[in-house]
Amino acid sequence: MLKVLLIAGARPNFMKIAPIYAAMRRRSDIFAPKIVHTGQHYDAAMSDAFFTDLGMPEPDIHLGVGSASHAVQTASIMTAFEPVVIEEKPDWVVVVGDVNSTIACALVAVKLGVKVAHVEAGLRSRDRTMPEEINRILTDAISDLLLTTSQDADQNLKDEGIPNDKIRFVGNVMIDSLMEHLKLADASTSRQDLGIDGREYAVVTLHRPSNVDNAEVLTGILDALTDISLRLPIVFPVHPRTRANIDKFGLADKLAESDIKLIEPLGYLDFMRLYSGAKLVLTDSGGLQEETTVLGIPCLTLRHNTERPITIEMGTNVLVGNDPANIKRAASEALADAKTDTKIPPLWDGHAAERICDELEKAC
Ligand code: UD1
Repeated sequence: MLKVLLIAGARPNFMKIAPIYAAMRRRSDIFAPKIVHTGQHYDAAMSDAFFTDLGMPEPDIHLGVGSASHAVQTASIMTAFEPVVIEEKPDWVVVVGDVNSTIACALVAVKLGVKVAHVEAGLRSRDRTMPEEINRILTDAISDLLLTTSQDADQNLKDEGIPNDKIRFVGNVMIDSLMEHLKLADASTSRQDLGIDGREYAVVTLHRPSNVDNAEVLTGILDALTDISLRLPIVFPVHPRTRANIDKFGLADKLAESDIKLIEPLGYLDFMRLYSGAKLVLTDSGGLQEETTVLGIPCLTLRHNTERPITIEMGTNVLVGNDPANIKRAASEALADAKTDTKIPPLWDGHAAERICDELEKAC
């Protein structure tokens, strides 16, 4: 029996852990998985709603860490996780993505001699000002098994000197969740609730510090969105960090003149129902670049780089940065002439979690 601790900390982790947990439960003669929630995200809308929507049980272990500066948050997760690993003696710790919980738990496990598998390994934006890029590089450097979503990630790892025999291309487990829940999301009333059912609309999400922590940058982006909203109404579920900054910079009144509906963050199914019907998505999220690619929805990424270049090469994604004029121009172009020759990347097929289990079994 393989004892596995699956680490979830922040919103983008939950839809990656859920299919792996379910696949392990289907192989309960081999795997004994436990879910560890670090508590990095703790609001009901940022955390609990996802466990419910994804059909996951309550976490087996909750570290209850919460928000803090990077150093304090990472250190608190490490301090709380170390006794868990000592007590549980797992065969594997599985970490996903690139958040502070990912590096914190990987570092604790590896120092206690426990094997670490990193799901979504090898992605690189080559922008070391992004906290996630540091988390990705460090987690990959210390993990025993690097499970990748695309072959460009395999190449990034090889270029960093990581031996071939640690790298496995398994596909995109977040797309397992998307495919499993797309039909279920039809039952969500989020479009009706917002009064946009049957209408054309755009969806916006923003939370990167580089877009929302600086008053001038955030003002410019919101000006561009206001302009776009006058042609295509926008729904904008607002991340807590962004909400706090809109208030802090006094931008809420300005938005009242736009056709942008600011709403609370949505759960997994409500949000899927919302973006799956959008004519255009504007975002700085990593996951949404992938989800829109699979659904063929035009996506403008408000960043200068992406660690997911396959969504540009094969998918609907276009990098537009955060200059207001560029955002407006790119939106006009996407609405006039959306990319048509797009494809779903290899192994984004709904079966990545099974392949992850295969690899964990083989690596033991
Ligand atoms: C984190 C991840 C980021 C990911 C994002 C998804 C890191 C370094 N960043 O960024 O990669 O894309 O999650 O959302 O791990 N807050 C709440 N309630 C919550 C969570 C956060 O109010 O449940 C507020 C707090 O004010 C907190 C701030 O949001 O200080 C930032 O939260 P934090 O987890 O530090 O980073 P995110 O910006 O969410």
